[in-house]
Amino acid sequence: MNDIIKTDILYPETDFLLRIEARREGMSAAQWAEENKAFLKAAILRHRGVILRGFDCDRNGFSATAKALEPESIDYRGGIGPRTLVAPEVYNSTELPPKHSLAQHHEMAYNAYWPMQILFFCEEPPEEGGATTLCDAHQLYRRLPRTVLDKFLSLGLKYVRNYTQDTPYRSIQETFGTTDKQWITEFCRGNGVQAEWNGERLTLTQRAPAVREHPTTGTPIFFNTLALWHYTYWSKLLGSFGGPMSSAAQGEAWQNSLYGDGTPIEDSVVADILALYEEEEISIEWKKSDILYFDNMLASHGRKPFAGRRKILAAFRSPRHASAKA
Ligand SMILES: [Fe+2]
Repeated sequence: MNDIIKTDILYPETDFLLRIEARREGMSAAQWAEENKAFLKAAILRHRGVILRGFDCDRNGFSATAKALEPESIDYRGGIGPRTLVAPEVYNSTELPPKHSLAQHHEMAYNAYWPMQILFFCEEPPEEGGATTLCDAHQLYRRLPRTVLDKFLSLGLKYVRNYTQDTPYRSIQETFGTTDKQWITEFCRGNGVQAEWNGERLTLTQRAPAVREHPTTGTPIFFNTLALWHYTYWSKLLGSFGGPMSSAAQGEAWQNSLYGDGTPIEDSVVADILALYEEEEISIEWKKSDILYFDNMLASHGRKPFAGRRKILAAFRSPRHASAKA
């Protein structure tokens, strides 16, 4: 294999991220991935993620690569991020204001099902900044203060979303693909989400644990989106959207994360978690046609601020349901 690819570990001290570079022109990413599926799947368990660099790929090739590695896509309806479908089962990455960092999170960890694997594709490298960041999730779990962890372990989490006329970036229609109240209520009930209507205002509430065990490695993971959902994080971003939400009080916030019993998570706890993520995160500086393939439980992800153009596409694969047996 070594005459056609070159491999190295990006962060050898923690055995984090395997980089695989094509040594020949015109090697198809989709074909190479299909032929080396077992190797790649083992690699993301060991190194938490793999970067394929220098392969031939466009957005349809990326769609084919994702399908070759992980045949099943996820139903993103009800998800939180603003997303546009751009190729079969391929979405734009989060469309949040470029000048802000996207805090570390595990995709759809607030939900009753989530993707086990994520692939990102660099269609257009960022002009300035815009690195994707990853954190070793088990390392974060190990470094959290025991008292903080114990409280999350005993209470779990509650995630709240309020959709109003002033919802800053994602409407009910964009979240569910419909505004049919009965359909939305039933869809939510089937997915462990409580939907409450008050006229045109919709409040979604869902409970989830803060820690889950990885089904293959058995490692405990601080697996959630609490930092990204917490009102202190959002209140910094909302100024960019404008409108009355920018001054909303905590209880009225567009979205918020709470302890599972409904009590607020202390601002200082969220600040400490964000600081820990920042200390642990590593950056991926994108090159055109790069593919990042990683395990959504073993690594959290985020994004650095950027300026100018940047086009990163995403595929969310292999849904795992909370009720599944290991
Ligand atoms: Fe994400």
